[in-house]
Amino acid sequence: MSRRSDLWIFLTAIFALIAFAARGGEVEVSVIPSSRVRDPNILVQRDGGGYAYRTYLDFILQRLDIQPGDRILDLGAGDGWWTAHFAEKVGAEGTVYAGEVTQELVDRLKQRLQDHPNAKPYLCPRNRPGLPDQSVDLVFISQVYHHLEGQTRIDYWRELAKTVTPSGRVAVIETYPQIALQGKDHGTPLSTLVREAEEGGWIPVEVWFIPGTQHYLAIFIQQRAFFPKPASQQ
Ligand SMILES: C[S@@+](CC[C@H](N)C(=O)[O-])C[C@H]1O[C@@H](n2cnc3c(N)ncnc32)[C@H](O)[C@@H]1O
Repeated sequence: MSRRSDLWIFLTAIFALIAFAARGGEVEVSVIPSSRVRDPNILVQRDGGGYAYRTYLDFILQRLDIQPGDRILDLGAGDGWWTAHFAEKVGAEGTVYAGEVTQELVDRLKQRLQDHPNAKPYLCPRNRPGLPDQSVDLVFISQVYHHLEGQTRIDYWRELAKTVTPSGRVAVIETYPQIALQGKDHGTPLSTLVREAEEGGWIPVEVWFIPGTQHYLAIFIQQRAFFPKPASQQ
């Protein structure tokens, strides 16, 4: 993908965000960071560490707009750090499924998350989420996308479309290889992610560079959510 198409994807996503803000009228503009570069050192001296994006927890939680009672899938939950934060947000009436691909990792998650009864670690297949249809409102995929398998990752997006509610979201945090100081191989160009998501039936509605890191956050909604249902299916 060329730089021009990268730029185009960014502009499309930002346009979508503005359109959302204008229609909903509920976006708190004060929490949206500016893209103005006030200190160029912040770009240069970004943190190349694997979990640097965790220091932007508040910003990421704000963008995810999690509500009490939400059902979330933390796909590739790892040490369960995000799962625990999501479990606090969704409260007792919500659920956070924590998918991992080996029984050892699932057992470790169960141990770590025992203080969060609304967190449900489970053994996840490698080529699909492995949860019932329409069982979650949000799928969170942090530093996992480049691991995903399916016949292709486009198939994985189609599986995600079954797992979330029709207007549910998928949020992806990935390393941006073009600017990564470390771990370029453990990332995905934004243009690749968006192309695969679009082919799998999704569109980006928000894309954020996570300042001070080498990561981006991209949030997707299914294309079909933008079209009214035929009267016969209402
Ligand atoms: C770098 S860790 C990310 C952990 C956590 N999501 C975070 O951001 O802190 C990647 C995790 O993805 C899991 N993983 C790898 N392939 C996967 C797949 N196909 N489905 C779900 N999880 C997968 C790994 O077991 C590992 O725990």
